[in-house]
Amino acid sequence: MKRALTVPAWAKINLTLDVLSERQDGYHDLRMVMQSVSLRDTVRVAIGTGASLLVRTNLSFLPDDNTNLAAVAAERFCAAAGLDLGGLSLEIEKSIPVCAGLGGGSSDAAATLRALNELTATGFSDARLAEIGAQVGSDVPYCVFGGTALAEGRGELLTRLPVLPHCWVVLCKPEFRISTPQLFAALNVRRIVRRPDTAGVCAALEQGDLGGVARRLYNVFEDALDPRRATVVAAVKAMLLEWGALGAVMSGTGPTVFGLFDDVLTAQSAANALARQYEEVFLAEPV
Ligand code: C5P
Repeated sequence: MKRALTVPAWAKINLTLDVLSERQDGYHDLRMVMQSVSLRDTVRVAIGTGASLLVRTNLSFLPDDNTNLAAVAAERFCAAAGLDLGGLSLEIEKSIPVCAGLGGGSSDAAATLRALNELTATGFSDARLAEIGAQVGSDVPYCVFGGTALAEGRGELLTRLPVLPHCWVVLCKPEFRISTPQLFAALNVRRIVRRPDTAGVCAALEQGDLGGVARRLYNVFEDALDPRRATVVAAVKAMLLEWGALGAVMSGTGPTVFGLFDDVLTAQSAANALARQYEEVFLAEPV
């Protein structure tokens, strides 16, 4: 019997991103304060379809086969649960820009895990889903939980933090893409001179101090960008600040830049101003 569920897949932003060291396994040890925001994809998961795997998205350039991260997540879920779904259909409506530093693919994978857990009544805990998600991508464990969290290790060691005080988030994705592995390769960990004040951000969250968080937004990858991209990212940041953001920073490995605002009208004006110059601009809230 066919059963289906439609679930949201929230975008994530990095309030801080620090790269601590290179690891033996080819990954890096990170320390990041993560936040999910209301910009979202929607994933419809149907099981018992009878057919073999069907993956559909509204973006023609995304993989529509078993290499799509949502399909990889489904395969890992079935292996962990020892299940045969009797056919699986994944329909992904993308709104989160792709390769943008917003964890869109990871979030689709996490949403698929949550949906399959419910549809099959498997009863895995979120921690177990996050373990399965870690086999799919480094940001998937965080995306299983969402909210405000400190992510360490490869990204899979999660500590829940006090929620970010309510604010408005203006996101702007410049026109270029950045390859995550290439940007990691371009970063010389031993030469990082400036790092985020992660402890300060955690303390500001503890105190419910939005301004204290916004003042400390920092991402070491901004310093690893080539000059052309660095100029564009700096221009978007400058514009966000000029239009009243309390702080602005690039998210993940970019190129999306976001600003935090304590007032919706100011945020809306900033978004409108950016939208006159950039195609992909969004106004969101923390979730
Ligand atoms: O885990 P995920 O597939 O998202 O990672 C993509 C790439 O980003 C990895 O192949 C690796 O080059 C880099 N990465 C890293 N250290 C991490 C996470 C990602 O070096 N903690």
